[in-house]
Amino acid sequence: MIAEQTTTGLLDVELIRKQFPILHQHVNGNPLIYLDNAATSQKPLAVIDAIDDYYERYNSNIHRGAHHLAQLATEAYENARKTVAQHINAEEREINFVRGTTEAVNLVASSYGRKFVGTGDEIIISGLEHHSNIVPWQMLCEEKGAVLKVIPVNEAGEIIFEAYLKLLSPKTKIVSIAYISNALGTINPVKEVIAEAHKVGAVVFIDGAQALPHKKVDVKELDCDFLGFSGHKVFASTGIGILYGKAALLEQMPPYMGGGEMIKTVTFEKTTYNDLPYKFEAGTPNIEGGIALGAAINFINEIGLHKIEHYEHKLLEYGTEKLLEIEELRIVGTAANKSSVLSFLVKDVHPYDLGVLLDQQGIAIRTGHHCCQPLMDRFGIEGTCRASLAFYNTHSEIDALAKAVKRAVIMLK
Ligand code: ALA
Repeated sequence: MIAEQTTTGLLDVELIRKQFPILHQHVNGNPLIYLDNAATSQKPLAVIDAIDDYYERYNSNIHRGAHHLAQLATEAYENARKTVAQHINAEEREINFVRGTTEAVNLVASSYGRKFVGTGDEIIISGLEHHSNIVPWQMLCEEKGAVLKVIPVNEAGEIIFEAYLKLLSPKTKIVSIAYISNALGTINPVKEVIAEAHKVGAVVFIDGAQALPHKKVDVKELDCDFLGFSGHKVFASTGIGILYGKAALLEQMPPYMGGGEMIKTVTFEKTTYNDLPYKFEAGTPNIEGGIALGAAINFINEIGLHKIEHYEHKLLEYGTEKLLEIEELRIVGTAANKSSVLSFLVKDVHPYDLGVLLDQQGIAIRTGHHCCQPLMDRFGIEGTCRASLAFYNTHSEIDALAKAVKRAVIMLK
């Protein structure tokens, strides 16, 4: 059975899968089962066609040319910005195109951080963070003599909220936290994290890389100050992403990079900067990426994020149950509130060896530390096997995963 009953209607997975050409192939003699969606997601025809259309019909630089193709490209790119803005309930000038979540964090650390963080100030992150939400803050702290504080994580892989409250103080200038952990799937209580940070006057950056593909994110409802996410995880291209920032904050921030497009006037004596969002968009951007991102967001909205979320939750529950039937297998990350990630270990089996054997059976997962070495240290492990789900995955793929893990474990023992 492929069509799934959800509380909000049917999610026709078979129809959805038809939109993803890459899924219909064999790998190592077996049908591909793609379970590495947290690393990058696959692209629907709507996205592939939008990219083709751009190169076949109107490839041109944006905001610069008076000619027809330049106008078409500018219109398509700016329409994509509008789509993103509507999707997360922001204003268009608050949507900055960047290369991905990593650049979004670096932009805020370099621009907002350099201006507003000083010696002795504190920045709070969580123990669940991806390296890209650790290292830019460490670099800022080193430069400014500021202090990085880390919210501890419990055995289930959840942040310890009371410990977070104790870390907050008037010295806290920035709190930066993932909405959903890429390594464990934990959904952090970001709304509460934001509300508490605001009480001490700190601003909050939300790493939305793993959230945007799976749930509706409304920046006004969350009241987050900054949000970053990556196009390629949300069914669009690599090399494109978004930094959302509240306009009032972005206005106060100096440019991150200098160059064309981010200026109003340039003389050798002085440059005046462009208005939002162009102030943060120096140089020719990833035009096809922006257009692809708009197409991807329209695609998921046509399906409906509530349906997607509900379906994926059922799939996660099913996957958890199936994997736990395997002897000596343990799930790493058992948060009460979880999304789309099954991180697991089988006693005495190295994750990499298991990953290779699964690949031989056509199953793509990620193994290792998932760019979260401090989190792995917290659990006293080197890494995990991670199966990460998208709405095009099926219950029968989960069955195949469980069967393949069983078979691989027998071979490795
Ligand atoms: N952040 C990506 C992952 O979790 C690359 O795999």
